[in-house]
Amino acid sequence: MVLGSDKIPKVRRSQGAYGKNDKDGFIHRSWMKAQGFPEDVFDGRPVIGICNTWSEITPCNSHLRELAEFVKRGVWEMGGLPLEFPVSSLGETQMRPTAMLFRNLLAMDVEESIRANPIDGVVLMGGCDKTSPGQLMGAASVDLPTMIVSSGPMLNGKFRGRDIGSGTDVWKFDAEVKAGRMTQEEFMAAETGMSRSRGVCMTMGSASSFASVAEALGVALPMNGTAPGVVAERQRISHQAGREIVRLVKEDLCLSHFLTREAFENAIKVHAAIGGSTNTVIHLLAVAGRLGIDLTLDDFDALTQGIPLLTNVQPSGKYLMEEFHYAGGVPGVFSRLGEHLHGDAPTVSGRSIKEISDRAEIYMGDVICTLEDPVKKDAGTIVLRGNICPDGAIMKPSAASPELLQHTGPALVFEDIEDYKARIDDPDLDVTKDTVLVLRGCGPRGYPGMPEVGNMALPQKLLAQGVEDMVRVSDARMSGTAFGTVVLHVCPEATAGGPLGLVRTGDIVKLDAKARTINVDVTPEELEKRTNPAMDNFTPESRGYVRLYQTTVEQADTGCDLDFLKGGSGSDVKRESH
Ligand code: FES
Repeated sequence: MVLGSDKIPKVRRSQGAYGKNDKDGFIHRSWMKAQGFPEDVFDGRPVIGICNTWSEITPCNSHLRELAEFVKRGVWEMGGLPLEFPVSSLGETQMRPTAMLFRNLLAMDVEESIRANPIDGVVLMGGCDKTSPGQLMGAASVDLPTMIVSSGPMLNGKFRGRDIGSGTDVWKFDAEVKAGRMTQEEFMAAETGMSRSRGVCMTMGSASSFASVAEALGVALPMNGTAPGVVAERQRISHQAGREIVRLVKEDLCLSHFLTREAFENAIKVHAAIGGSTNTVIHLLAVAGRLGIDLTLDDFDALTQGIPLLTNVQPSGKYLMEEFHYAGGVPGVFSRLGEHLHGDAPTVSGRSIKEISDRAEIYMGDVICTLEDPVKKDAGTIVLRGNICPDGAIMKPSAASPELLQHTGPALVFEDIEDYKARIDDPDLDVTKDTVLVLRGCGPRGYPGMPEVGNMALPQKLLAQGVEDMVRVSDARMSGTAFGTVVLHVCPEATAGGPLGLVRTGDIVKLDAKARTINVDVTPEELEKRTNPAMDNFTPESRGYVRLYQTTVEQADTGCDLDFLKGGSGSDVKRESH
């Protein structure tokens, strides 16, 4: 048995099943032999679980079965035994009411699948928005040697001779159609041109944000976040991951070795520099919660002071993930950030963040810009507080309009998304560009699952006048591909009794992003008298997972995990099955 020299030799988990000569060992091995494995694969070699979210209904992950074969090559090569297994898959564009509702279900699936099976290390294969975060949450609660292999972004979308970006251009085209500047025929043609290869959204959406941040956390190989899904480099990264996970098992380097407070700080800073999705905030808080790491919403604001937007990638910039990758990828961002990062933080590649940074090369200076001459000065996450959101709300300044970061205007309140859809394009709606659109009933408990509707499309009549942005406030999330001056994740959500539920149409809302405040200009006495329809009319589902979710989900400021899933239970299973 090969073990790290500084470790006390211990029997691998897999040997507790395959290494015994009794009835239990017979049962564990015999059925596995039905797959054609020779006798000697049960000789004590590391058993690597390949936890795969492949699915044809998760198009962004639909090539992960093929990529898993490359991981297996690397595992076999290094003397391990790769065993691939499926877990729930969450297709962002396909699931209703929202894939986020099921992130915690996936996390439970992953956690129990890893713990219950005789594996020594895990490769998490995911990509589409909620898959990798859910997988990492579950794996963190078991804490075996683990690494992430991501789907990789799609190739750039193409439409009429120009590049178009997933999601980001959908929102723009939708506004163009509503404003009468794009025909229905053109809209349909763009639909086909946008997704022209397999992989995740090729803007800096939630999937690419998390995959990039995984490099900064130290749990994915360099370039994992950016290499396109369909190029040979993605296959080489997968092959190399297979090699490295065997090494991690041999050296007994578990997830908690990499996922330290310093790793999260690196991740938060890199997330700011790449203009990452607001969804990453929720996911990182949830993963930290599984490991007992003291990470708060305020860390996302405090740690990103002075970190500008360095990558010129949609929705905050101009280019797409393909350019970011060939410009130098996340290692290029490490290099630009330099001393801002904890350079000695280890990664699953065997190299520290500084060692990766030192090897980085940057080829297109207008794609990965410098600290001195960034794409935008304002990046990161603004955390707001006020009488609308006592537990916090967030904004993404890099995707907002600078002139709206200080704004005062009358609220136009929508009780839920159906109310919004029914009224927003009414020609008689009392709305101007100064109005603040307020949406509630869209938090984790209320919707349920906290959908990506916070970037409410603007009223058709204002779009036709050329209005491009308005202040919007909600307890919802927004897609990482979206943009605008949008206040999100209002906590507590209205359905959980948050004061967002007390706002009335016509109330004056004051946003001051610089002062980190958002308030409604109503006295505490008046608010006290008001009712909260979102909370008063709420009844949880009567059964099933949705009931479990609605009765135990935490708010966005702590990661929207289920309250009983925080922390971990380790990897020990004391009892045999027969
Ligand atoms: Fe799957 Fe964007 S919809 S990554």
